[in-house]
Amino acid sequence: MRTLAREKNALIIAHNYQRPEIQDAADFTGDSLELSRTAAKTGAGIILFCGVHFMAETAHILSPQKKVLLAELKAGCPMADMITADDLRALKADHPGALVVAYVNTSAAVKAETDICCTSANAATVVSNIPEDRKIIFVPDRNLALYVEKKTGRELIKWDGYCPTHEYITAEVIQKAKAEHPQALVIAHPECLPEVQDMADALESTSGMIRFAQESGAKEFIIATEMGLNHRLKQENPGKEFISPTSKAICPNMKMTTLQKAYDTLDQERYEIRLDEETRVRALAAVEAMVSYT
Ligand code: 13P
Ligand code: SF4
Repeated sequence: MRTLAREKNALIIAHNYQRPEIQDAADFTGDSLELSRTAAKTGAGIILFCGVHFMAETAHILSPQKKVLLAELKAGCPMADMITADDLRALKADHPGALVVAYVNTSAAVKAETDICCTSANAATVVSNIPEDRKIIFVPDRNLALYVEKKTGRELIKWDGYCPTHEYITAEVIQKAKAEHPQALVIAHPECLPEVQDMADALESTSGMIRFAQESGAKEFIIATEMGLNHRLKQENPGKEFISPTSKAICPNMKMTTLQKAYDTLDQERYEIRLDEETRVRALAAVEAMVSYT
């Protein structure tokens, strides 16, 4: 895989939830924000994206002159699919004058209807920088929206989307893990249910969770997110223990990408992600607005 990437001047980027062998083969592994920044600044002609569809779309939005390949074309995000551009247009019509903030876990068509994008790493900062007198629509994640409301004190017009994988992580399984590991800190992703958020010692993006574990003096951590994160957590923190509270916290879409599929995609240069230019440019404005609001 590395030899093929070198021959083709391709950059392999992988999300923190990818299979361990994909993460190990990648040039860069990170959270959504880091991946989009890396895609935007690379000099490579080809980006092999190991993640889900909206992530590769974001890479194309930022770098249209590069060939962005999604390692597995069927890998989508069920949360992103919970809102369409038509849904968002109807919501905007119901709330004239409201600014739309969309989580990056959305299609490019939804981003094209959005004023400002955000990721889990900067959602609260984006919202806190919006003038107090503006109403705010926040889509699609209801749990991230609640987290942002608590953190900023702002009221949001919320969409009822959610991540099925994160909602498997219930308060009961966290309680059980805490009883078994009384010294452990709970680190959770803000896509978790509000009652799980309330039990967390830290709420962070996937890469933020890794940084928290590195900087903390604690030795044991209960990890309330997709289990793929444990690979980097263990690699980068030898001597610390990471506990998954449930074996159900697996994103089937993230796991569709295998090393063989990724190799074949790069070899054949298949599954290129492209958008019509009007959608791309409108979506780009929302992604660029994210930078100016942080
Ligand atoms: P991060 O941006 O925190 O990596 O999250 C992406 C995601 O899809 C979480 O489910
Ligand atoms: Fe989407 Fe959830 Fe999978 Fe993240 S973990 S890609 S939000 S389904």
